[in-house]
Amino acid sequence: MKNGLFSKMIAAFTIIISLSFVITSAFLSFWFQNYYLSQRRSQIVTEAQFVRNAAIQYFAGNISQDRLNDTLETLAEYLNPDIKADMFIMDGYGYVYATSNSEYYKLIGKQIVSKDIRDVRNGKMVENTDVYNKIFGKAVHTYEIPITYNGTFEGSIMINTSVNDIRHPLRRVYIIIWISAIFAIIAACFVIYYFSQKIIIKPLWEINSVARKIAKGEVDKRVDVKSEDEIGELAQSFNFMADSLEKVENNRREFISNVSHEIRSPITSIKGFIGGILDGIIPRDRERYYLSLTYDEINRLTRLVNDLLDLSSMEAGHLKLNIVKLNINEMIKNTVIKFETKINEKKLKVDVCFNSDDLYVLGDEDRINQVLTNLIDNAIKYVNDDGSVRISTKEKSNKAYISIYNNGPQINEEDFKHIWDRFYKSDKSRTTKMSTGLGLPIVRSILTQHGEDIHVENKKEGGVEFTFSLKLST
Ligand SMILES: Nc1ncnc2c1ncn2[C@@H]1O[C@H](COP(=O)(O)OP(=O)(O)O)[C@@H](O)[C@H]1O
Ligand SMILES: [Mg+2]
Repeated sequence: MKNGLFSKMIAAFTIIISLSFVITSAFLSFWFQNYYLSQRRSQIVTEAQFVRNAAIQYFAGNISQDRLNDTLETLAEYLNPDIKADMFIMDGYGYVYATSNSEYYKLIGKQIVSKDIRDVRNGKMVENTDVYNKIFGKAVHTYEIPITYNGTFEGSIMINTSVNDIRHPLRRVYIIIWISAIFAIIAACFVIYYFSQKIIIKPLWEINSVARKIAKGEVDKRVDVKSEDEIGELAQSFNFMADSLEKVENNRREFISNVSHEIRSPITSIKGFIGGILDGIIPRDRERYYLSLTYDEINRLTRLVNDLLDLSSMEAGHLKLNIVKLNINEMIKNTVIKFETKINEKKLKVDVCFNSDDLYVLGDEDRINQVLTNLIDNAIKYVNDDGSVRISTKEKSNKAYISIYNNGPQINEEDFKHIWDRFYKSDKSRTTKMSTGLGLPIVRSILTQHGEDIHVENKKEGGVEFTFSLKLST
Protein backbone atom coordinates (compact mmCIF):
# COMPACT_ATOMS: atom_id res chain seq x y z
CA MET A 1 0.00 0.00 0.00
CA LYS A 2 2.83 2.32 0.93
CA ASN A 3 4.21 2.32 -2.58
CA GLY A 4 0.81 2.51 -4.19
CA LEU A 5 -1.62 5.07 -2.87
CA PHE A 6 0.95 7.07 -0.97
CA SER A 7 3.34 7.71 -3.82
CA LYS A 8 0.45 8.38 -6.19
CA MET A 9 -0.99 10.95 -3.84
CA ILE A 10 2.34 12.61 -3.21
CA ALA A 11 3.07 12.68 -6.93
CA ALA A 12 -0.33 14.13 -7.77
CA PHE A 13 -0.15 16.82 -5.11
CA THR A 14 3.44 17.69 -5.94
CA ILE A 15 2.58 18.10 -9.61
CA ILE A 16 -0.43 20.26 -8.81
CA ILE A 17 1.48 22.44 -6.38
CA SER A 18 4.54 22.75 -8.58
CA LEU A 19 2.39 23.69 -11.56
CA SER A 20 0.55 26.34 -9.65
CA PHE A 21 3.73 27.83 -8.23
CA VAL A 22 5.49 27.76 -11.59
CA ILE A 23 2.56 29.46 -13.29
CA THR A 24 2.30 32.05 -10.52
CA SER A 25 6.03 32.71 -10.59
CA ALA A 26 6.05 33.04 -14.36
CA PHE A 27 3.21 35.55 -14.23
CA LEU A 28 4.87 37.40 -11.41
CA SER A 29 8.18 37.59 -13.27
CA PHE A 30 6.49 38.74 -16.45
CA TRP A 31 4.49 41.36 -14.60
CA PHE A 32 7.53 42.56 -12.74
CA GLN A 33 9.56 42.92 -15.91
CA ASN A 34 6.83 45.04 -17.48
CA TYR A 35 6.51 47.11 -14.38
CA TYR A 36 10.24 47.64 -14.16
CA LEU A 37 10.53 48.67 -17.81
CA SER A 38 7.64 51.08 -17.58
CA GLN A 39 9.21 52.63 -14.47
CA ARG A 40 12.43 52.92 -16.36
CA ARG A 41 10.68 54.52 -19.32
CA SER A 42 9.13 57.25 -17.21
CA GLN A 43 12.48 57.80 -15.52
CA ILE A 44 14.10 58.18 -18.93
CA VAL A 45 11.47 60.70 -19.99
CA THR A 46 12.32 62.77 -16.93
CA GLU A 47 16.04 62.46 -17.61
CA ALA A 48 15.52 63.49 -21.20
CA GLN A 49 14.01 66.71 -19.92
CA PHE A 50 17.29 67.63 -18.20
CA VAL A 51 19.36 66.58 -21.19
CA ARG A 52 17.13 68.59 -23.49
CA ASN A 53 17.74 71.72 -21.40
CA ALA A 54 21.48 71.21 -21.64
CA ALA A 55 21.24 70.61 -25.40
CA ILE A 56 19.20 73.78 -25.88
CA GLN A 57 21.84 75.72 -23.96
CA TYR A 58 24.35 74.30 -26.41
CA PHE A 59 22.26 75.06 -29.48
CA ALA A 60 21.82 78.58 -28.20
CA GLY A 61 25.60 78.86 -28.01
CA ASN A 62 25.58 79.40 -24.23
CA ILE A 63 27.87 76.47 -23.44
CA SER A 64 30.78 74.81 -25.21
CA GLN A 65 30.79 71.24 -26.46
CA ASP A 66 33.17 70.17 -23.68
CA ARG A 67 30.86 71.68 -21.11
CA LEU A 68 27.97 69.82 -22.70
CA ASN A 69 29.89 66.56 -22.51
CA ASP A 70 30.66 67.19 -18.83
CA THR A 71 27.07 68.11 -18.11
CA LEU A 72 25.88 64.93 -19.79
CA GLU A 73 28.37 62.89 -17.80
CA THR A 74 27.22 64.41 -14.52
CA LEU A 75 23.57 63.96 -15.45
CA ALA A 76 24.15 60.34 -16.48
CA GLU A 77 25.85 59.53 -13.18
CA TYR A 78 23.47 61.49 -11.04
CA LEU A 79 20.27 60.25 -12.61
CA ASN A 80 21.26 56.62 -12.95
CA PRO A 81 23.11 55.65 -9.81
CA ASP A 82 22.27 51.93 -10.16
CA ILE A 83 22.49 51.37 -13.86
CA LYS A 84 25.07 52.86 -16.13
CA ALA A 85 23.41 54.75 -18.97
CA ASP A 86 25.13 56.43 -21.90
CA MET A 87 23.61 59.58 -23.28
CA PHE A 88 24.07 61.04 -26.73
CA ILE A 89 22.84 64.21 -28.30
CA MET A 90 22.45 64.13 -32.09
CA ASP A 91 21.27 66.54 -34.67
CA GLY A 92 18.31 65.94 -36.95
CA TYR A 93 20.34 63.62 -39.18
CA GLY A 94 21.86 61.51 -36.44
CA TYR A 95 25.28 63.22 -36.17
CA VAL A 96 26.56 63.03 -32.62
CA TYR A 97 27.27 66.32 -30.87
CA ALA A 98 27.97 65.19 -27.38
CA THR A 99 28.04 62.07 -25.18
CA SER A 100 28.17 61.37 -21.47
CA ASN A 101 30.72 58.60 -21.86
CA SER A 102 34.30 59.60 -22.74
CA GLU A 103 34.79 56.19 -24.35
CA TYR A 104 32.46 57.35 -27.12
CA TYR A 105 34.11 60.76 -27.83
CA LYS A 106 35.34 59.17 -31.03
CA LEU A 107 31.72 59.01 -32.21
CA ILE A 108 31.36 62.78 -31.99
CA GLY A 109 30.74 64.20 -35.45
CA LYS A 110 29.81 60.78 -36.76
CA GLN A 111 26.39 59.66 -37.78
CA ILE A 112 24.59 56.99 -35.79
CA VAL A 113 21.61 56.57 -38.02
CA SER A 114 18.80 54.85 -36.44
CA LYS A 115 16.19 53.33 -38.66
CA ASP A 116 13.63 54.96 -36.41
CA ILE A 117 14.88 58.47 -37.18
CA ARG A 118 11.71 59.22 -39.09
CA ASP A 119 9.52 58.49 -36.07
CA VAL A 120 11.78 60.58 -33.89
CA ARG A 121 11.57 63.40 -36.35
CA ASN A 122 7.80 63.22 -36.09
CA GLY A 123 8.13 63.86 -32.38
CA LYS A 124 7.75 60.31 -31.12
CA MET A 125 9.79 58.64 -28.43
CA VAL A 126 11.24 55.38 -29.75
CA GLU A 127 12.20 52.48 -27.58
CA ASN A 128 14.24 49.52 -28.84
CA THR A 129 14.57 46.56 -26.63
CA ASP A 130 17.40 44.06 -26.64
CA VAL A 131 18.89 44.91 -30.03
CA TYR A 132 22.47 44.14 -30.77
CA ASN A 133 24.09 47.33 -31.79
CA LYS A 134 27.18 47.22 -34.02
CA ILE A 135 28.41 50.63 -32.92
CA PHE A 136 28.42 49.78 -29.25
CA GLY A 137 29.38 46.17 -29.74
CA LYS A 138 26.73 44.86 -27.36
CA ALA A 139 23.02 44.44 -26.91
CA VAL A 140 21.51 47.68 -25.76
CA HIS A 141 18.21 48.99 -24.66
CA THR A 142 17.76 52.27 -26.49
CA TYR A 143 15.45 55.21 -25.97
CA GLU A 144 15.38 57.99 -28.55
CA ILE A 145 13.66 61.20 -27.60
CA PRO A 146 13.21 64.10 -30.00
CA ILE A 147 14.36 67.64 -29.06
CA THR A 148 12.12 70.38 -30.31
CA TYR A 149 13.06 73.99 -29.75
CA ASN A 150 10.79 76.88 -30.64
CA GLY A 151 8.51 74.43 -32.43
CA THR A 152 11.18 73.00 -34.73
CA PHE A 153 12.85 69.64 -34.62
CA GLU A 154 16.45 70.23 -33.59
CA GLY A 155 17.81 66.76 -33.00
CA SER A 156 17.42 63.87 -30.62
CA ILE A 157 18.59 62.44 -27.37
CA MET A 158 19.57 58.81 -27.22
CA ILE A 159 19.88 57.05 -23.92
CA ASN A 160 21.44 53.61 -24.05
CA THR A 161 21.61 51.05 -21.36
CA SER A 162 23.41 47.79 -21.73
CA VAL A 163 20.86 44.99 -21.72
CA ASN A 164 23.04 43.17 -19.23
CA ASP A 165 22.86 46.09 -16.84
CA ILE A 166 19.09 46.30 -17.14
CA ARG A 167 18.75 42.60 -16.63
CA HIS A 168 20.84 42.64 -13.50
CA PRO A 169 18.23 43.94 -11.01
CA LEU A 170 15.53 42.00 -12.87
CA ARG A 171 17.54 38.85 -12.48
CA ARG A 172 17.83 39.43 -8.75
CA VAL A 173 14.06 39.68 -8.45
CA TYR A 174 13.58 36.61 -10.62
CA ILE A 175 15.92 34.67 -8.39
CA ILE A 176 13.99 35.75 -5.32
CA ILE A 177 10.67 34.79 -6.94
CA TRP A 178 11.86 31.40 -8.11
CA ILE A 179 13.73 30.50 -4.93
CA SER A 180 10.65 31.35 -2.89
CA ALA A 181 8.59 29.19 -5.25
CA ILE A 182 10.98 26.28 -4.81
CA PHE A 183 10.95 26.68 -1.05
CA ALA A 184 7.17 26.86 -1.06
CA ILE A 185 6.97 23.70 -3.18
CA ILE A 186 9.34 21.84 -0.87
CA ALA A 187 7.52 23.03 2.24
CA ALA A 188 4.17 22.09 0.70
CA CYS A 189 5.51 18.63 -0.12
CA PHE A 190 6.57 18.14 3.46
CA VAL A 191 3.19 19.21 4.74
CA ILE A 192 1.44 16.91 2.26
CA TYR A 193 3.72 14.08 3.21
CA TYR A 194 3.07 14.56 6.88
CA PHE A 195 -0.69 14.92 6.59
CA SER A 196 -1.30 12.18 4.11
CA GLN A 197 0.78 9.88 6.27
CA LYS A 198 -1.11 10.84 9.38
CA ILE A 199 -4.63 11.21 7.99
CA ILE A 200 -4.82 8.54 5.32
CA ILE A 201 -1.89 6.21 5.00
CA LYS A 202 -1.35 5.22 8.64
CA PRO A 203 -5.05 4.58 9.39
CA LEU A 204 -5.46 2.64 6.13
CA TRP A 205 -2.39 0.65 6.92
CA GLU A 206 -3.74 -0.14 10.36
CA ILE A 207 -7.13 -1.20 9.00
CA ASN A 208 -5.35 -3.37 6.48
CA SER A 209 -3.16 -5.05 9.04
CA VAL A 210 -6.10 -5.69 11.37
CA ALA A 211 -8.07 -7.12 8.43
CA ARG A 212 -5.25 -9.55 7.79
CA LYS A 213 -5.13 -10.57 11.43
CA ILE A 214 -8.87 -11.15 11.49
CA ALA A 215 -8.61 -13.21 8.32
CA LYS A 216 -6.05 -15.35 10.14
CA GLY A 217 -8.55 -15.97 12.91
CA GLU A 218 -7.70 -13.31 15.49
CA VAL A 219 -11.30 -12.10 15.49
CA ASP A 220 -10.90 -10.08 18.67
CA LYS A 221 -8.60 -7.52 16.97
CA ARG A 222 -10.00 -4.00 16.44
CA VAL A 223 -8.83 -0.88 14.64
CA ASP A 224 -7.83 2.05 16.82
CA VAL A 225 -8.55 5.09 14.62
CA LYS A 226 -10.41 7.90 16.30
CA SER A 227 -10.50 10.64 13.66
CA GLU A 228 -13.94 11.98 12.83
CA ASP A 229 -13.57 12.00 9.07
CA GLU A 230 -14.45 9.38 6.46
CA ILE A 231 -11.44 7.29 7.41
CA GLY A 232 -12.66 7.32 11.01
CA GLU A 233 -16.07 6.21 9.76
CA LEU A 234 -14.48 3.45 7.73
CA ALA A 235 -12.58 2.30 10.81
CA GLN A 236 -15.81 2.33 12.79
CA SER A 237 -17.71 0.32 10.19
CA PHE A 238 -14.77 -2.01 10.02
CA ASN A 239 -14.96 -2.53 13.78
CA PHE A 240 -18.71 -3.16 13.52
CA MET A 241 -18.00 -5.77 10.89
CA ALA A 242 -15.34 -7.29 13.12
CA ASP A 243 -17.85 -7.38 15.99
CA SER A 244 -20.36 -9.32 13.97
CA LEU A 245 -17.63 -11.59 12.62
CA GLU A 246 -16.58 -12.29 16.18
CA LYS A 247 -20.17 -13.01 17.12
CA VAL A 248 -20.58 -15.38 14.19
CA GLU A 249 -17.31 -17.07 15.05
CA ASN A 250 -18.34 -17.46 18.69
CA ASN A 251 -21.73 -18.81 17.63
CA ARG A 252 -20.02 -21.29 15.42
CA ARG A 253 -17.74 -22.49 18.21
CA GLU A 254 -20.62 -22.69 20.63
CA PHE A 255 -22.70 -24.56 18.08
CA ILE A 256 -20.00 -27.14 17.48
CA SER A 257 -19.44 -27.64 21.16
CA ASN A 258 -23.20 -27.98 21.70
CA VAL A 259 -23.56 -30.49 18.91
CA SER A 260 -20.63 -32.53 20.19
CA HIS A 261 -22.05 -32.45 23.66
CA GLU A 262 -25.52 -33.47 22.50
CA ILE A 263 -24.12 -36.34 20.50
CA ARG A 264 -21.70 -37.50 23.11
CA SER A 265 -24.23 -38.27 25.84
CA PRO A 266 -26.41 -40.71 23.85
CA ILE A 267 -23.30 -42.32 22.39
CA THR A 268 -21.84 -42.75 25.86
CA SER A 269 -25.03 -44.44 27.12
CA ILE A 270 -25.30 -46.65 24.05
CA LYS A 271 -21.67 -47.66 24.46
CA GLY A 272 -22.22 -48.40 28.16
CA PHE A 273 -25.33 -50.48 27.64
CA ILE A 274 -23.96 -52.52 24.75
CA GLY A 275 -20.59 -52.92 26.47
CA GLY A 276 -22.40 -54.18 29.57
CA ILE A 277 -24.35 -56.70 27.56
CA LEU A 278 -21.26 -57.93 25.70
CA ASP A 279 -19.20 -58.21 28.88
CA GLY A 280 -22.00 -60.05 30.62
CA ILE A 281 -22.18 -57.45 33.38
CA ILE A 282 -25.82 -56.95 32.57
CA PRO A 283 -27.77 -60.09 33.51
CA ARG A 284 -29.39 -61.89 30.62
CA ASP A 285 -32.93 -61.25 31.75
CA ARG A 286 -32.26 -57.46 31.85
CA GLU A 287 -30.74 -57.37 28.38
CA ARG A 288 -34.04 -56.58 26.74
CA TYR A 289 -34.63 -53.66 29.00
CA TYR A 290 -31.20 -52.17 28.27
CA LEU A 291 -31.61 -52.75 24.57
CA SER A 292 -34.82 -50.76 24.68
CA LEU A 293 -32.95 -47.95 26.43
CA THR A 294 -30.34 -48.13 23.68
CA TYR A 295 -33.10 -47.97 21.12
CA ASP A 296 -34.45 -44.81 22.77
CA GLU A 297 -31.03 -43.23 22.70
CA ILE A 298 -30.65 -44.09 19.03
CA ASN A 299 -34.05 -42.53 18.37
CA ARG A 300 -32.93 -39.44 20.17
CA LEU A 301 -29.75 -39.29 18.12
CA THR A 302 -31.73 -39.71 14.93
CA ARG A 303 -34.08 -36.93 15.94
CA LEU A 304 -31.16 -34.69 16.80
CA VAL A 305 -29.42 -35.33 13.50
CA ASN A 306 -32.64 -34.78 11.54
CA ASP A 307 -33.33 -31.56 13.37
CA LEU A 308 -29.80 -30.35 12.75
CA LEU A 309 -29.99 -31.16 9.07
CA ASP A 310 -33.35 -29.40 8.82
CA LEU A 311 -32.06 -26.34 10.57
CA SER A 312 -28.89 -26.10 8.56
CA SER A 313 -30.62 -26.54 5.23
CA MET A 314 -33.23 -23.97 6.23
CA GLU A 315 -30.59 -21.49 7.31
CA ALA A 316 -28.59 -22.05 4.16
CA GLY A 317 -31.78 -21.30 2.23
CA HIS A 318 -31.68 -24.63 0.40
CA LEU A 319 -35.13 -25.53 1.50
CA LYS A 320 -37.75 -25.02 -1.19
CA LEU A 321 -41.22 -24.43 0.12
CA ASN A 322 -44.10 -26.06 -1.69
CA ILE A 323 -46.85 -23.60 -0.89
CA VAL A 324 -50.36 -25.04 -1.17
CA LYS A 325 -53.77 -24.46 0.25
CA LEU A 326 -54.07 -26.14 3.67
CA ASN A 327 -56.95 -26.72 6.01
CA ILE A 328 -55.14 -25.69 9.19
CA ASN A 329 -57.99 -26.72 11.52
CA GLU A 330 -57.97 -30.22 10.19
CA MET A 331 -54.17 -30.40 10.46
CA ILE A 332 -54.33 -29.34 14.10
CA LYS A 333 -56.88 -32.05 14.88
CA ASN A 334 -54.72 -34.69 13.22
CA THR A 335 -51.62 -33.58 15.10
CA VAL A 336 -53.42 -33.71 18.44
CA ILE A 337 -54.49 -37.26 17.64
CA LYS A 338 -50.84 -38.23 17.15
CA PHE A 339 -50.15 -37.22 20.75
CA GLU A 340 -53.05 -39.21 22.20
CA THR A 341 -50.85 -41.63 24.18
CA LYS A 342 -48.88 -38.83 25.82
CA ILE A 343 -52.03 -36.88 26.57
CA ASN A 344 -53.56 -39.88 28.24
CA GLU A 345 -50.37 -40.63 30.17
CA LYS A 346 -50.33 -37.10 31.67
CA LYS A 347 -54.12 -37.04 31.99
CA LEU A 348 -54.29 -33.73 30.17
CA LYS A 349 -57.36 -31.85 29.09
CA VAL A 350 -56.94 -30.72 25.49
CA ASP A 351 -59.33 -28.19 23.92
CA VAL A 352 -59.48 -27.06 20.32
CA CYS A 353 -61.46 -23.87 19.68
CA PHE A 354 -62.24 -23.12 16.04
CA ASN A 355 -64.78 -20.72 14.61
CA SER A 356 -65.57 -23.19 11.85
CA ASP A 357 -64.52 -26.68 10.82
CA ASP A 358 -62.32 -25.49 7.97
CA LEU A 359 -59.84 -22.67 7.83
CA TYR A 360 -57.78 -22.45 4.68
CA VAL A 361 -54.27 -21.01 4.74
CA LEU A 362 -51.24 -21.00 2.47
CA GLY A 363 -48.16 -22.97 3.46
CA ASP A 364 -45.92 -25.95 2.92
CA GLU A 365 -47.79 -28.91 4.31
CA ASP A 366 -44.84 -30.85 5.74
CA ARG A 367 -43.26 -27.78 7.30
CA ILE A 368 -46.46 -26.48 8.85
CA ASN A 369 -47.01 -29.96 10.26
CA GLN A 370 -43.55 -29.73 11.77
CA VAL A 371 -44.43 -26.36 13.35
CA LEU A 372 -47.64 -27.72 14.83
CA THR A 373 -45.96 -30.89 16.07
CA ASN A 374 -43.13 -28.99 17.77
CA LEU A 375 -45.41 -26.47 19.43
CA ILE A 376 -48.00 -29.01 20.57
CA ASP A 377 -45.22 -31.31 21.73
CA ASN A 378 -43.78 -28.49 23.82
CA ALA A 379 -47.17 -27.61 25.27
CA ILE A 380 -47.73 -31.22 26.30
CA LYS A 381 -44.16 -31.62 27.53
CA TYR A 382 -44.04 -28.50 29.67
CA VAL A 383 -47.52 -28.65 31.16
CA ASN A 384 -47.97 -30.32 34.53
CA ASP A 385 -49.84 -33.60 34.88
CA ASP A 386 -53.62 -33.08 34.88
CA GLY A 387 -53.02 -29.71 33.23
CA SER A 388 -54.78 -28.35 30.22
CA VAL A 389 -53.79 -27.42 26.67
CA ARG A 390 -55.87 -25.20 24.38
CA ILE A 391 -55.37 -24.71 20.67
CA SER A 392 -57.34 -22.02 18.88
CA THR A 393 -57.41 -20.35 15.48
CA LYS A 394 -58.90 -17.07 14.40
CA GLU A 395 -58.96 -14.89 11.31
CA LYS A 396 -57.96 -11.28 11.24
CA SER A 397 -57.22 -9.08 8.23
CA ASN A 398 -56.13 -11.69 5.69
CA LYS A 399 -54.27 -13.74 8.26
CA ALA A 400 -54.96 -16.75 10.39
CA TYR A 401 -53.60 -16.67 13.94
CA ILE A 402 -52.93 -20.03 15.55
CA SER A 403 -52.43 -20.07 19.31
CA ILE A 404 -51.21 -22.99 21.41
CA TYR A 405 -51.76 -22.46 25.12
CA ASN A 406 -50.83 -24.62 28.08
CA ASN A 407 -51.39 -23.79 31.74
CA GLY A 408 -47.98 -25.02 32.85
CA PRO A 409 -45.24 -23.03 34.56
CA GLN A 410 -44.40 -19.72 32.93
CA ILE A 411 -41.18 -18.96 31.14
CA ASN A 412 -38.94 -16.75 33.26
CA GLU A 413 -37.43 -13.57 31.96
CA GLU A 414 -33.95 -14.98 31.37
CA ASP A 415 -35.33 -17.87 29.31
CA PHE A 416 -37.55 -15.53 27.32
CA LYS A 417 -34.50 -14.08 25.59
CA HIS A 418 -33.02 -17.46 24.76
CA ILE A 419 -35.77 -19.94 23.93
CA TRP A 420 -35.29 -19.24 20.22
CA ASP A 421 -31.56 -20.03 20.39
CA ARG A 422 -30.32 -23.35 19.17
CA PHE A 423 -29.83 -25.94 21.93
CA TYR A 424 -31.42 -23.75 24.54
CA LYS A 425 -33.23 -25.74 27.23
CA SER A 426 -34.41 -23.96 30.32
CA ASP A 427 -34.57 -26.83 32.73
CA LYS A 428 -31.57 -28.85 31.79
CA SER A 429 -31.98 -31.67 34.31
CA ARG A 430 -35.66 -32.32 33.64
CA THR A 431 -35.79 -32.18 29.92
CA THR A 432 -32.49 -33.59 28.70
CA LYS A 433 -33.91 -36.94 27.75
CA MET A 434 -36.75 -35.53 25.76
CA SER A 435 -35.42 -32.34 24.31
CA THR A 436 -32.84 -31.13 21.90
CA GLY A 437 -33.42 -27.39 22.24
CA LEU A 438 -33.85 -27.25 18.47
CA GLY A 439 -37.64 -27.30 18.28
CA LEU A 440 -38.32 -23.58 18.58
CA PRO A 441 -35.43 -22.47 16.32
CA ILE A 442 -36.80 -24.82 13.65
CA VAL A 443 -40.32 -23.46 14.11
CA ARG A 444 -39.11 -19.92 13.78
CA SER A 445 -36.99 -20.69 10.71
CA ILE A 446 -39.94 -22.30 8.96
CA LEU A 447 -42.25 -19.40 9.73
CA THR A 448 -39.64 -16.84 8.69
CA GLN A 449 -39.36 -18.63 5.37
CA HIS A 450 -43.11 -18.34 5.00
CA GLY A 451 -42.73 -14.63 5.67
CA GLU A 452 -44.61 -15.03 8.94
CA ASP A 453 -43.87 -14.51 12.59
CA ILE A 454 -44.31 -16.20 15.96
CA HIS A 455 -44.34 -14.85 19.47
CA VAL A 456 -44.69 -16.18 22.98
CA GLU A 457 -46.58 -14.73 25.89
CA ASN A 458 -46.87 -15.51 29.60
CA LYS A 459 -50.62 -15.22 30.17
CA LYS A 460 -51.94 -13.15 33.07
CA GLU A 461 -54.15 -16.01 34.26
CA GLY A 462 -51.06 -18.30 34.24
CA GLY A 463 -49.65 -20.54 31.54
CA VAL A 464 -47.81 -19.92 28.30
CA GLU A 465 -49.17 -19.18 24.83
CA PHE A 466 -47.35 -19.38 21.51
CA THR A 467 -49.09 -17.61 18.60
CA PHE A 468 -48.09 -17.66 14.97
CA SER A 469 -49.64 -16.33 11.81
CA LEU A 470 -50.22 -17.71 8.30
CA LYS A 471 -51.68 -16.13 5.20
CA LEU A 472 -55.30 -16.96 4.53
CA SER A 473 -56.01 -18.66 1.24
CA THR A 474 -58.58 -16.77 -0.81
N1 LIG B 1 -45.12 -24.46 26.06
C1 LIG B 1 -44.01 -24.16 26.76
N2 LIG B 1 -44.10 -23.89 28.08
C2 LIG B 1 -43.00 -23.59 28.79
N3 LIG B 1 -41.77 -23.51 28.30
C3 LIG B 1 -41.60 -23.79 26.99
C4 LIG B 1 -42.71 -24.13 26.16
N4 LIG B 1 -42.24 -24.35 24.91
C5 LIG B 1 -40.91 -24.17 24.97
N5 LIG B 1 -40.52 -23.82 26.19
C6 LIG B 1 -39.15 -23.52 26.64
O1 LIG B 1 -38.36 -23.27 25.50
C7 LIG B 1 -37.21 -24.14 25.47
C8 LIG B 1 -36.87 -24.47 24.06
O2 LIG B 1 -37.86 -25.24 23.43
P1 LIG B 1 -37.52 -26.17 22.25
O3 LIG B 1 -36.69 -25.35 21.31
O4 LIG B 1 -38.76 -26.73 21.67
O5 LIG B 1 -36.58 -27.25 22.81
P2 LIG B 1 -36.99 -28.57 23.58
O6 LIG B 1 -38.46 -28.76 23.41
O7 LIG B 1 -36.22 -29.60 22.90
O8 LIG B 1 -36.60 -28.34 24.99
C9 LIG B 1 -37.66 -25.31 26.28
O9 LIG B 1 -36.56 -25.93 26.87
C10 LIG B 1 -38.55 -24.67 27.33
O10 LIG B 1 -37.78 -24.20 28.40
MG1 LIG C 1 -39.52 -28.76 21.72
